[in-house]
Amino acid sequence: MVNSDNNLYREFLDTVGDLINAPEFRMLDKCRHHYGVSRMQHCVNVAYYSFVVCRRLGLDYRAAARAGLLHDLFYYEWQSDEMGFAEHARKHSEIALENAERLTELSELEKDIIKNHMWLCGSMWPRHRESYIVSLADKICAVWEASHGFRLRVSTGFAA
Ligand SMILES: [Fe+2]
Ligand SMILES: [Fe+2]
Repeated sequence: MVNSDNNLYREFLDTVGDLINAPEFRMLDKCRHHYGVSRMQHCVNVAYYSFVVCRRLGLDYRAAARAGLLHDLFYYEWQSDEMGFAEHARKHSEIALENAERLTELSELEKDIIKNHMWLCGSMWPRHRESYIVSLADKICAVWEASHGFRLRVSTGFAA
């Protein structure tokens, strides 16, 4: 687990606290995503590491964190759904964008991050560096989560 006492983590929570406590986001804790990891935990992981990398590179880390948190804001069970992986890859990012727009106001950059986060798995091309970083964080987190219990979990225990 990432050290919840450090300043970087506190800054991350300040950036996404309103979203992380929203019921629409918390519902993702009931959605299985990668084996023992819920969709909510996956989204927090992706958001936090995107935030850290973008901050170090002098990019828009606020947008990366907020859109990273909402990049998989959908509620169906993709493992058991009848649509194939290619269709799921395309559709869920569109659904996540619609749901995210209902939840909060999004900048054009944040929309690009969510809509194109499945870069390389579908015919989508991000237009911003932050979008590529979130997409890469998504893939790296997915591999970690699916492979060995993911020891680097980011705390989701941020109380209202
Ligand atoms: Fe996704
Ligand atoms: Fe994801």
